[in-house]
Amino acid sequence: MTTSGAQYDQIGGKYDEYARTATLKQAERYSILKLVGALDGKQVMDLACGFGFYTRLLKQQGAAQVIGIDISPEMIRLAREHEQAQPLDIDYQVWDANSLPDLDAFDLITAIYLLNYAASKAEMLAMCQNIYKNLARDGRFVAFLPNPAFTLSKANCTPYGITVLREELEADRYACEAEFLTDPPTAVNYYRWNQATYEWAIRESGFRNFAWYPTEVAPEDISRYGQAYWRDFYDNCLIIGLACQK
Ligand SMILES: C[S@@+](CC[C@H](N)C(=O)[O-])C[C@H]1O[C@@H](n2cnc3c(N)ncnc32)[C@H](O)[C@@H]1O
Repeated sequence: MTTSGAQYDQIGGKYDEYARTATLKQAERYSILKLVGALDGKQVMDLACGFGFYTRLLKQQGAAQVIGIDISPEMIRLAREHEQAQPLDIDYQVWDANSLPDLDAFDLITAIYLLNYAASKAEMLAMCQNIYKNLARDGRFVAFLPNPAFTLSKANCTPYGITVLREELEADRYACEAEFLTDPPTAVNYYRWNQATYEWAIRESGFRNFAWYPTEVAPEDISRYGQAYWRDFYDNCLIIGLACQK
């Protein structure tokens, strides 16, 4: 099973389909935009940007400059295609977060589902160190991750657009196989690291403090789908936010 980020060269446009159809993505989007807050005039890096879903939203939220970075040339090709069709003045570049150079001093770096692709603790630390060195003084790092508290012994995430098929316990993480519920379903693999490992990498790379943020559903999505629809989502949430301060 490949848990490497390189799998996204194959997933390609199916991630766009997933992002447009999964209700999980609506809750995730609401939670992330709430977490990043006001962006007017800010310099932002969206790391592991994929096809630019959040990169574009961050620019539309008023950021002065946004750069999108991803390891997958195919994802960056798709992001650039969007940029050509509807220019937002976003620069997209291919880099591996493990070997990211010093690009600038950003006010905010987002990494939505990056750290779960660290193949080892050393890689997770390298990613966090590279994020830290690219932040301005007092800069913030906002991540979204597979929730360390998720469990297959409770309701799965299927009604919300993704099914977790298997989780294999390794030392300090689960190796996970899942399917985005596209047509046909799209296989995806990732690690669900334990909370202590994330916190170790964040502290070790120098961040002053951090906090975890449970995913929230927008009031309009609660009205639209009903309270009952979101009960399992809240009870066994697959995703969680993490915000860190340099
Ligand atoms: C689940 S997708 C998320 C894309 C985007 N952040 C979003 O939420 O719409 C994960 C992305 O992480 C990228 N990725 C994985 N490992 C990476 C690495 N080492 N450096 C940079 N990007 C990486 C993948 O190529 C993929 O585009």
